[in-house]
Amino acid sequence: MTLDTTSKRALRDFYEAEGRRFDHQASMYADSGNAEFWWHRKRLMHVQSYLYQCLEKPEVSSFIDVGCAEGYYVGLASRIRSGLDCVGVDISCAYIKKAKLRNPSADFVLCDAEFLPFKKGSFDLVLCSEVLEHVPDYSKALKELLDLGNMFVILSFPGHSFLYKILSRFPPLRKAMNRVFSYKTGHISEVTVGFVESLVQVHKMWKKLAISQSGALPIQIYKFIPSTRIIDTIDGALCNFLTRKRILGITTIQVINISTE
Ligand SMILES: C[S@@+](CC[C@H](N)C(=O)[O-])C[C@H]1O[C@@H](n2cnc3c(N)ncnc32)[C@H](O)[C@@H]1O
Repeated sequence: MTLDTTSKRALRDFYEAEGRRFDHQASMYADSGNAEFWWHRKRLMHVQSYLYQCLEKPEVSSFIDVGCAEGYYVGLASRIRSGLDCVGVDISCAYIKKAKLRNPSADFVLCDAEFLPFKKGSFDLVLCSEVLEHVPDYSKALKELLDLGNMFVILSFPGHSFLYKILSRFPPLRKAMNRVFSYKTGHISEVTVGFVESLVQVHKMWKKLAISQSGALPIQIYKFIPSTRIIDTIDGALCNFLTRKRILGITTIQVINISTE
């Protein structure tokens, strides 16, 4: 199936078909030792670590996952903190049904991240992982998330590697790479750390922004490195260096925790 990025209907159909076709999170986060999945498990680790940090606070009593797919993070959050009020939303009815089956005690709502049907400040903890890059007006969706949150907003989105940044200087190459990528993965927007930082500054209630990054090498390279331990060592060293020097925006995994504290 191809992706027509100009029509909302086509986008909905794309995720409806995806939700029916496969179990997105079960396959991505499985600890299969497969180097290609290293990337997904690594970002899961960063998101997970922020979730644990936020859910340690006794004041946090409600959680929403925007673009929840099969409800993996809703399940995780309710296991970390029993009694937590959990809601998941997604644009795909097929995903929502699967999420509800897996998490019968949580609530799930079919809706679009650009138009979230909740009051301002409804949730203490908001998560939006690997979704903004799928949304045509990601700036609107990001504003919705910042409005929705009361204490923490965790965002995870992919960045582009240094190699992509060099190659994409040539407009025909950039167009071709983006077309292939969006047809396959649904990535139609390019979210940057700088953009998130600028929006957060406008919202006076949000005070602190913490960033974790990984995946300094182009994603394609992981297929050719035989061991995930080797990837971890090389990537960890590179990313520690980049983070120490405050060089942001050239890694492929970017996870942000925005807080009011
Ligand atoms: C790459 S998956 C990420 C799933 C999950 N958040 C995770 O990190 O494992 C993208 C999810 O976003 C959903 N999605 C795409 N566009 C959306 C939109 N405009 N509003 C809400 N959900 C959307 C898709 O149906 C899919 O479940």
